[in-house]
Amino acid sequence: MISNTPDHTNIITIERHIFETQLYHPEATGVLTNILYDIALAGKVIASKTTRAGLAEILGRTEQVNVQDEVVMKLDDLANNTIYHLNIHSGRLAAMASEEDPEVMPIPDRYPTGKYILLYDPLDGSSNIDFNIPIGTIFAVYRRVTPEGPGQLVDCLQPGRNMVAAGYIIYGSSTMLVYTTGHGVHGFTLDPSVGEFLLSHPNITIPTSPKYFSVNLGYEMYWSKGVQKYTSYLQGEEGGIHGLSLRYVGSLVADFHRNLLAGGVFYYPADRKDPQKPHGKLRLLYEANPLAFLAEQAGGGASDGVTPILDIKPQSLHQRTPLFIGNKDLVDKAADYINQYDRQLEAVPA
Ligand code: AHG
Ligand code: MN
Ligand code: MN
Repeated sequence: MISNTPDHTNIITIERHIFETQLYHPEATGVLTNILYDIALAGKVIASKTTRAGLAEILGRTEQVNVQDEVVMKLDDLANNTIYHLNIHSGRLAAMASEEDPEVMPIPDRYPTGKYILLYDPLDGSSNIDFNIPIGTIFAVYRRVTPEGPGQLVDCLQPGRNMVAAGYIIYGSSTMLVYTTGHGVHGFTLDPSVGEFLLSHPNITIPTSPKYFSVNLGYEMYWSKGVQKYTSYLQGEEGGIHGLSLRYVGSLVADFHRNLLAGGVFYYPADRKDPQKPHGKLRLLYEANPLAFLAEQAGGGASDGVTPILDIKPQSLHQRTPLFIGNKDLVDKAADYINQYDRQLEAVPA
């Protein structure tokens, strides 16, 4: 006898959810759904490795240094190869680009090319892998702008406003996939017993009253005066707001996820600690842009301190950007302090 009791009706998979929201996407052909499924599958594989990392000899470093001039952790390498090899043959993509690879990765001739572009940070929060602190995967999906053939750099250097989908997978106390296709933000939790991501957080909106601010205070001496003043404001000084707690775990995905659900602002400002990285550490294409799309879809905001992140025209694959993201009023307040104290600060050159 068919019943409508809650435990039989609330099994909403990513596929069913996208199908139901696809009613907004008359032009959608289901390919985008399949790309999200490919990413979800990669997430399940990576999750299975991260939960056994200590047993499976995949903690620690490889011998490689990547284009970011950072040592590649074994799990970076595993996540990067998992996402690449699960997507390269699908016929849905024209090219991919990864934080871990210097150049654009066009689909090779032996496979069909599709009309989408996938940009990704395969494993975010690498410095935390060996300490069992939550880490994540971040992704952005665009339609190609070149007419045909293997995708090109120009297909990857689109402003964030052109994104058709974005999301992240967080490997924490549970594994969650959070995504948007421009119709709200929705969270799915992996049920390991059935191996499916099931809808657990429909229509996520950032709470209007923030609880946290997230920044690496260890670098305060390297910030501009405006950012230092903004930080004092968040700490309740000089007429600032009271009651915010500082939470910073050093995994962008985990810090962003907590602020998305609880309300707050995360920022990684431009700093003077490394002359090679005057715009801070975070990358525009596969960290700031996808999270900015999610933040705006959840009623929040994201800027580089002056310009909305999604309006920045990328010039290079791995360009860095300062990032202020979370409650829109707190993001806007950062711009007020930066404009007031750092007048010489031009919009970060894209
Ligand atoms: P990734 O592991 O992909 O290189 O990203 C790490 C980033 C981000 O996750 C986090 O917000 C930031 O590094 C932390 O940097 P600091 O250790 O300089 O605070
Ligand atoms: Mn990262
Ligand atoms: Mn990474």
